Formats: sequence, structure tokens, C-alpha cells
Amino acid sequence: MSDHTTEPRMVRPVAVVGTGSYLPERVLTNAHLEEMIDTTDEWIVSRTGMKERHLARDDEAASDMASEAAKNALENANVKPEDVDLILVATSTPDMIFPSTGCLTQAKIGASNAVCMDISAACSGFLYAMELGKQYIATGGIETALIIGSEKMSSIVDWTDRGTCVLFGDAAGAVVLQAAKSGRGLMASELGSDGTLGDLLKVPAGGSRQPASQETVDGNLHTIQMSGREVFKHAVTNMSAAATATLKRCGMTIEDVSCIVPHQANQRIIQAIGQKVNAGPERFYVNVDKYGNTSAASVGVALDEVSRSGRLKPGDIVLIVAFGAGFTWGASLIEWEKA
Ligand code: ACO
Repeated sequence: MSDHTTEPRMVRPVAVVGTGSYLPERVLTNAHLEEMIDTTDEWIVSRTGMKERHLARDDEAASDMASEAAKNALENANVKPEDVDLILVATSTPDMIFPSTGCLTQAKIGASNAVCMDISAACSGFLYAMELGKQYIATGGIETALIIGSEKMSSIVDWTDRGTCVLFGDAAGAVVLQAAKSGRGLMASELGSDGTLGDLLKVPAGGSRQPASQETVDGNLHTIQMSGREVFKHAVTNMSAAATATLKRCGMTIEDVSCIVPHQANQRIIQAIGQKVNAGPERFYVNVDKYGNTSAASVGVALDEVSRSGRLKPGDIVLIVAFGAGFTWGASLIEWEKA
């Protein structure tokens, strides 16, 4: 097991200066799922809190959604595409194996001066990417980073498996990072990984271990396989521990936090984290009821919504927590600057 942390010893503080998101138009409700598989609205709501999720069009891929969220975030930040130095796209559902979804997104938005790549950390990808972008800016290597989480989860869901297909949705979220004008910005984070537990949540085929073949297609190996209960347990434990450690690192308590933006995996996971860190439901921003689990997009979409809602004012402390396949997890504390 590895556990990498970053110290709050920045050369210069880094802030979120713009946010954006994109939700595809098509909506799949629990009632639709009742017609497709053996499930009920009551089961889905009581076990997950989800009521509906958005699905991308057949001709819409991760880079298409990423581009829309990116344009939205750049406009919000008042930054031109050509001023972006770095594009990091967190995704488990890239358009293709290569070129990266980062490069494909760059071409779509005209960010001709950016260095582009993808980050693979499943549902923690957005947090991992934000942390990487922060380090580049903090040390003066670049001025502007565009961080995007984009997922077409519907392309890797087994629509006959009721244990997983009800959980996921498609979306993209983005933030623009620059040196902070005032305040501490992205103050500290605690990231962790445990590759020994990778088998509990995976898409087995399509990579170099099991390239696509008639057998992998017939065996349904290109879709999500998950041990739901195990994932649930580790998600709660690791997100709570990362949150507590990050607060400690900054000499803060949960009372100092204005808003907790968790990865939107399951309402019950969010509630369990609240119990562990001693924060009531009113402290969390939750949209899992509307979008389901959009993996790497979820934190970006939630940050954009909470920012545009007017709930945050400059100086507020935001706590982000995430957990995903790998396993990967993390927490990050932000002193909010965006007005
Ligand atoms: N509708 C009706 N019944 C269902 C459904 C469904 N959609 N899905 C499963 N069931 C049944 C099961 O078959 C089982 O029936 P049985 O008792 O007759 O065998 C029963 O419900 C209980 O199943 P469990 O899987 O034990 O249900 P649980 O309470 O654990 O809830 C859930 C399942 C919602 C998946 C939960 O385990 C969970 O949320 N886990 C975390 C999942 C997650 O967040 N994954 C993403 C993380 S990160 C990433 O990187 C993608």
C-alpha cells in the first residue's frame, strides 16, 4: 500500500478561478430502469438516493462532453483557450486508447499552447488531476491549468446487471486553476492508493491483459465488475480518514468547513462519511439524486453547481473527498476565491 501526501508548503498559492460543467440532454429515470431490468424506484432510492441520471448520445464521447465543460469553465474564469498551459482530463472512459482525451479536447477548444494528457484514477481522478495542476502552478512552471473530469459511464455499464447499471451516469466537470490573487487557495490534500484491492472494482478487458476478442465480448468483460459492499466499506473508511488527516494538516476542524463536496457515489456513503467526521447533511453538497455516479466528473460538476449557486463566498473553506477504483482516494481543502 502506498500513501502519498503533499505538504502545505507552496511556493505560491493556487486558486480555482473558474468552474464549468456539462450534462447530456437525455435523462434516464428510475421508472425507465424499472422497464429495463428487475428493479424498483423504491430499491434504487433507498439504497443509493438516485432518482435519475443523464446519458450521452451515441455519437457523443468523453472529449465532446469535456470540451463543453471546459468552454464553460474558461468563460467563467474569463480565460482564453490559447492562454491554457496544461490540460489534464481525468477519465476512465476515454474516446479511444490514444490519442488522449486531453489532446482531443485541446483540438476541440483551440487551446493550442497547452500540454495535454489523461489521468487514470477512476472516481478520484478529478482530485488527483487538480492536485497535479496545482503543483505545476505552485512551483511556477505554468500559469494556467484546465482540469477536466469527463465520463461516458454508459459505455462501460452492463445494462443487464441490476447491481451496477442503476448507479452510473454521464457528465463532465471542469475547473481553471491559476495563482491565487488572495487567500490560500488549494491549501492541502491527502491522496492515497491501494492497488492490492484493484480486483474489487474493474473493467477486465480491452487493455493489454485481455485485448478485445470475440471471447471477451461474449464473456461481457468490457463492462464494470464491482463488489458493491466491499467498495462501500472502503469508500467510507478512506474518504473519512483522508478528510480528517487533511483538516489536521491545516490545523482546522470540521467546524471550519463551510461546504463539503463529496464524490457523488451513493447518498448512504455520503451520510456515513458525515457520521464519521461529525458533519450533518446540511454541510454537504449533494446532487447524486439527479446525476447518479458520474465517476471522475462528479466532483467537478458538484463544484460548478455549488459555485454558481451562490452558496460559497470568498474565504469560505471547501472540503472535497473522493474515492474510486484502484483503489484511489483523497481529500482536499480549498479556501474559496472565486466570487
Ligand atoms: N434492484 C433491486 N434489487 C437489487 C438491485 C437493484 N438495482 N441491485 C441489487 N439488488 C439486490 C441484490 O441482488 C441482493 O438481492 P439478494 O439479497 O436476493 O441476493 C440485494 O439487492 C442486496 O444486494 P447488495 O449488493 O448486498 O446491496 P447493497 O445494500 O450493498 O447495495 C450498492 C448495493 C448500492 C451497489 C452498494 O453496495 C453500494 O453503493 N456500493 C458502493 C458502490 C459504488 O459507490 N461504486 C462506485 C465507486 S467508485 C468508482 O470508481 C466507480
